[in-house]
Amino acid sequence: MIKAIKGAKDLFYDEVVRWQALEKLVREIFENFNYSEIRTPVFEETRLFARSIGEETDIVSKEMYTFTDKSGLSITLRPEMTASVVRAFIEHSLGKQFNLNKFYYIAPMFRQERPQAGRLRQFHQFGAEALGSSSPSLDAEMIILAYEILKQLGLKKLSVKINSLGSPAEREEYRKVLREYLKPHYDKLSETSKVRFEKNVLRIFDSKDERDIEIMKDAPRLLDSLGEESSAFFEEVKELLSKAGVEFETDTALVRGLDYYTHTTFEIVSESVGAQSALCGGGRYDLLAEQLGGTPTPGVGFAAGMERILLACANEEIEVGKKEKVKLYIVRIEKELKNKAFELALFFRRHGIKTELDYLSRSVKAQMREANRIEAEHVLILGGEEFLKNEAVLKNMSDGSQKNVSLANLEAVLKEISG
Ligand code: HAM
Repeated sequence: MIKAIKGAKDLFYDEVVRWQALEKLVREIFENFNYSEIRTPVFEETRLFARSIGEETDIVSKEMYTFTDKSGLSITLRPEMTASVVRAFIEHSLGKQFNLNKFYYIAPMFRQERPQAGRLRQFHQFGAEALGSSSPSLDAEMIILAYEILKQLGLKKLSVKINSLGSPAEREEYRKVLREYLKPHYDKLSETSKVRFEKNVLRIFDSKDERDIEIMKDAPRLLDSLGEESSAFFEEVKELLSKAGVEFETDTALVRGLDYYTHTTFEIVSESVGAQSALCGGGRYDLLAEQLGGTPTPGVGFAAGMERILLACANEEIEVGKKEKVKLYIVRIEKELKNKAFELALFFRRHGIKTELDYLSRSVKAQMREANRIEAEHVLILGGEEFLKNEAVLKNMSDGSQKNVSLANLEAVLKEISG
């Protein structure tokens, strides 16, 4: 038997209802904040991700789905959207049309990670990217946006973590300080951290190794060595968050797994999802546009993992979305009336009524059972003496009442059903 690829999921019935409800809420909130949807191709040239996310990151070095197409081009299924959005922004000179571009997306991403609860190989993110402003109000807006969506879903066990990685110059200076601090501990570091020491020393903060954690506990923090400007920027973000009623904690070890960040970084984590606790993450990336060959343009954004959010909702017993019930089920008594039933169903469907009928040559009893099973609001029974009078019986399934309706006046039946 051929199965779906490991770490990729089929969605149907009740689960799709949950996804649709989440997508609807996300769209509404993004639109309220005046973000426009952006859609980009699922694949890109591999070098786009190498140049933006960073060659040494786990995503680029271990997790990408990369292949060579028939023309010899190296292509990668996108592991995230920020690089694609900035690529599109540059390619279409969007900065010339508007000073500020605010985009949102809801889209599948691909990373070859070890699948587990809340971690997939094809997963879905909703997210936002704003290009063209270096105002701290946009950093705050991103955090508030993400928080608002999670709150409106009803999630409770959330914490917002924020940090600042400062300017590139400040970070470069800090890297030296951190290496100096680590030198005497080098031999005790895990093998992964030894590699990171050379290539991306900040990422040692992400290590889950007990000994590394112990060593990093007393490491100097980047946040403490920020200059005046960067500190003031971070203070303003925090002030805006406080005014918005968003509780947060400063996490000086929050370095994030992608290389493009400057200044603000943030994550919202949930206690309800186990090991994969980050529901969303983001931050500012003021150098990315330039790095990808565009004119220097500040940017900030975030992305949230939809599988994890729905998992958190399930674990907190939050019901997300409800399937719309069938409004009308047409039961035909005589088999010869099946085309009449089909024709009537089409009429009601064309008038916006969710309608169902029998396709399996079922008995009248079985058709009624089916109408009950799907909890249809009304049943229209077609046949018998009534049909000879060009009438049918309309039954209201919630109170059991029924009445004869004329098939010559379907508008009246429509009104009755729409009630
Ligand atoms: P990220 O932290 O790599 O950031 O991913 C954002 C979120 O996507 C995570 O917090 C998590 O909920 C979800 N996620 C990541 N990997 C998986 C996976 N394998 N399975 C399920 N969910 C996953 C970014 O992607 C950045 N582009 C965020 C950003 C936007 N920064 C600025 N703008």
